[in-house]
Amino acid sequence: MNFVPTAGQALQALVQPAGNKLRIIARAAFASDPVTRLSTRGALAESTDIIANNQYVPMTLSTLTLRRPDDFHVHLRDAAEMRAVVGATAQVFGRAIVMPNLKPPITTTAAAADYRQRIIDALPKNCRFEPLMTLYLTDNTSADELLRAKDSGFVHAVKYYPAGATTNSESGVTSLARVSGALAAMERLGIVLSVHGEVTDADVDVFDRERVFIDRQLTAIVRDFPALRIVVEHITTREAAQFVNDASSVIAATITPQHLLYSRNALFAGGLRPHFYCLPVLKREVHRQALVAAATSGNPKFILGTDSAPHATGAKETSCGCAGCYSAPIAMPLYAEAFEDAGALDRLEGFASIHGAAFYGLARNNDSITLQREASSVPQSLEFGATTVTPLRAGTTLRWRVA
Ligand code: NCD
Ligand code: ZN
Repeated sequence: MNFVPTAGQALQALVQPAGNKLRIIARAAFASDPVTRLSTRGALAESTDIIANNQYVPMTLSTLTLRRPDDFHVHLRDAAEMRAVVGATAQVFGRAIVMPNLKPPITTTAAAADYRQRIIDALPKNCRFEPLMTLYLTDNTSADELLRAKDSGFVHAVKYYPAGATTNSESGVTSLARVSGALAAMERLGIVLSVHGEVTDADVDVFDRERVFIDRQLTAIVRDFPALRIVVEHITTREAAQFVNDASSVIAATITPQHLLYSRNALFAGGLRPHFYCLPVLKREVHRQALVAAATSGNPKFILGTDSAPHATGAKETSCGCAGCYSAPIAMPLYAEAFEDAGALDRLEGFASIHGAAFYGLARNNDSITLQREASSVPQSLEFGATTVTPLRAGTTLRWRVA
């Protein structure tokens, strides 16, 4: 990553990021007034001072250039809605794992091929975005279908939705026993299992569904299929972060921007806030903090996955609102806020641009994006086919924008 000092600071130095500070690894000279605002080891530097090597200088970055990121969990929808949202992802991210929960779901490689073509046809001219396709696991997914998926080269994961867990999951898995043959085939073929980790049992509290899924199902999957590559999607709890951290290297997790920035208080701030409602639902502050610690730890198991999931505004602002936050147009600025607040902007590139590609066995993107520190406001609504979608953070101001 390259860091550029805020305009007006005449900094001449070779610097390295260290948390929210820059480590001076070569001589730095400050020619003008900003010097007096910079402290080194508590002492104020004089304008004529040469700051010695290995001093730490608190500093506000104005731009942040990083290798082009990928989004390892996104919902692009279909038809006019897809055409309305795909650009927001494709302009920033090099690739994205595209979720298969359409109506009807993408259960075959042939359907994934058609969907992939529709996405490519909708891309802006000269856009090199690559959709990474997924299949939707059902009780009936055959080993032959999985072999076709593997051979296709464009199906990168198979998504496990417990039936009834979330949007369009009605055709999902009804019991672990029914998919044991498919999981064994995936383990053999080296196909990634992407997991929506929530139980659906009516007697389990909504806020405990992820934790209980880990205890009742994920632990068994990992035990029975130890070589199966698994991404635990959109983790929301301390327990999930701990589980993934402690598991073998074939287990990873995606983390969304909303789960890094908000606790469940955001759902009820001054009234009911449907645009903060997604599944798994936002949790307590202790969980948010554990997720921030995981995402900013530098551990390659933790991967950017926005779970951007657009629904028409009217389908969320209603008596039984849909789950899903639309974050695609503002995802990188949101992640930058979360990492900056944790003093870990230097870890953003690993999380956003390196860990996911490594886990999925893909080459890193070889171009870059630049984030600029510049306040920008999030529109109240955006076009969404015949209707509109309300983005996450609508009407508020972002700290960063993609240049
Ligand atoms: C997603 C959607 O709307 O497709 N919703 C969500 O709240 N995350 C489905 C999902 O990923 O659970
Ligand atoms: Zn999702």
